[in-house]
Amino acid sequence: MQTDVLIVGSGAAGLTAALNLADRFRVTVLAKGALNDGSTSWAQGGIAAVLEPGDTFDNHVEDTMIAGAGLNDREIVEFVVEGAPAAITRLTELGVPFAMDGEVLHLTREGGHSHRRIVHVADATGWAVQDALQKAAEAHPNITLVPDQVAIDLVTGRHEERYSGAGRVWGVYAVDRVSGHVNLYTAHATILATGGAGRTYLFSTAPRGATGDGIAMAWRAGARVANMEFMQFHPTCLYNLEVKNFLITEAVRGEGGQLKNPNTGHRFMPDLDPRAELAPRDVVARAIDAEIKRYGLDYVHLDISHMPADFVRGHFPNIHEKLLGLGIDMTTQPIPVVPAQHYTCGGVVIDRDGRTDLPGLYAAGECTESGLHGANRLASNSLLECFVFGEAAARSIAANWDTLPAVPAIRAWDESRVTDSDEEVVIKQNWTEIRRFMWNYVGIVRTTKRLERAQNRIKLLSSEVDDYYGHFRVTPDLIELRNLIQTAELIVRSALHRHESRGLHFTLDYPGLAAEAVDTILIP
Ligand code: FAD
Ligand code: SIN
Repeated sequence: MQTDVLIVGSGAAGLTAALNLADRFRVTVLAKGALNDGSTSWAQGGIAAVLEPGDTFDNHVEDTMIAGAGLNDREIVEFVVEGAPAAITRLTELGVPFAMDGEVLHLTREGGHSHRRIVHVADATGWAVQDALQKAAEAHPNITLVPDQVAIDLVTGRHEERYSGAGRVWGVYAVDRVSGHVNLYTAHATILATGGAGRTYLFSTAPRGATGDGIAMAWRAGARVANMEFMQFHPTCLYNLEVKNFLITEAVRGEGGQLKNPNTGHRFMPDLDPRAELAPRDVVARAIDAEIKRYGLDYVHLDISHMPADFVRGHFPNIHEKLLGLGIDMTTQPIPVVPAQHYTCGGVVIDRDGRTDLPGLYAAGECTESGLHGANRLASNSLLECFVFGEAAARSIAANWDTLPAVPAIRAWDESRVTDSDEEVVIKQNWTEIRRFMWNYVGIVRTTKRLERAQNRIKLLSSEVDDYYGHFRVTPDLIELRNLIQTAELIVRSALHRHESRGLHFTLDYPGLAAEAVDTILIP
């Protein structure tokens, strides 16, 4: 199937790019499951934008740089922060029903922000954003949305029927989840918008599909990947033996929620940081981790029951209802919480136009390293990054359209030397194993020894999975496992490179901060 622009991913980044291209070009958007199964739909808190009287772009830039521990690219931070109000206007025009305070947008507060800055739709912002973008894309005659297509790898020069030497990316091979057939999608330009790699970890707030596919595909094709050691752990994921990845939005702390030791009732954050519960995420997550380890706890309490019940129900209707179903009334009881992996700060290196190192390949959203987040993402800056870079990539493709060469003849997927798998159990076993050792050895607090242990296991699993991949027909689970291992390898390698503790990367072997802030850039 040939199209003008191919977009892999139908979340905030992918659909924003599609809508910005579709008036001029034919756009095909792939999703590996349902169109709304990415992280975008799950976002609770909201989108950061300078809209409060007295707040300034400079404040938002400074807050972002402080959270990012000096590793952010200031020009990119300014570019994104200044793009926020217009992004909110466009979403409002698309019909996103943002919460209002009379005539103006209601702004909530989150950790690390010096002002009220978070535009939201109660506690289900992502769902409303995904819905509005998807409806607009479905209504556009130039956009073809194709769910259930699991991209396997990028199509590059080595897949050309006659090698052209152009060194470009021409699209992807993707397996159809329903038929099992491998389809070839080609295009003049390809945008990766595949989201993060949270599922590399046993406990994560991210949905099942966050397996780092775009990062792994770009790396295998020859693009640089950076800052993968900066995996963000959200401080407050619900602790529940059945519901394992339900986020309790940071806005609960923003609106007065307090973290307490469940045994003593002691509120511990004010002892550790003047910003208390609203310190940046890395600080709060490490504090909870330390409290849990120090007192042998399973969880800590997040308590907002001192606020009026109507206020709590009004601000957090979905969380309130979900918890009631689990026997917790947050208007009168504390919520048991633990940290869990939440966001992938690093990714495929892109420039201000969303261009990767590979001609013809762009990327946007959580799969990228744009320079915005540095060593730790400021809350609610990531949806914003999707809107700003989705649009930037579209703009760059449109501006350079006349220079993009025609797609050469590409070879079809070759299945002549593989058979159906006879041991699916290998996949399941390896999935669980990786996620468990990543959690235990490459989590919130690291050591070189633990990282090396993880690295040794990754080597073993990689050779096993490569062997499996070489002999058996691809399935969605196998593709994800291969990407999960590749991403884990990049995370560990990056973590071993960093001989300091900065932002989200904290290691007992190098507890101090190096004098100079340097990105970890991996070159294939
Ligand atoms: P996603 O929305 O994750 O979409 C990825 C897309 O890529 C999907 O369509 C998927 O099917 C597709 N895909 C992936 N791999 C393949 C493949 N191999 N082949 C084909 N398609 C593929 N950020 C904020 O700014 N504010 C918040 O309040 C907020 N809350 C959050 C709450 C939760 C629980 C989580 C998990 C994240 C939250 N975030 C928040 C982060 C934010 O939601 C994400 O960073 C953002 O939505 C990522 O958007 P994206 O378009 O890059 O990717
Ligand atoms: C949250 O609602 O706490 C998540 C916000 C974010 O990840 O940016």
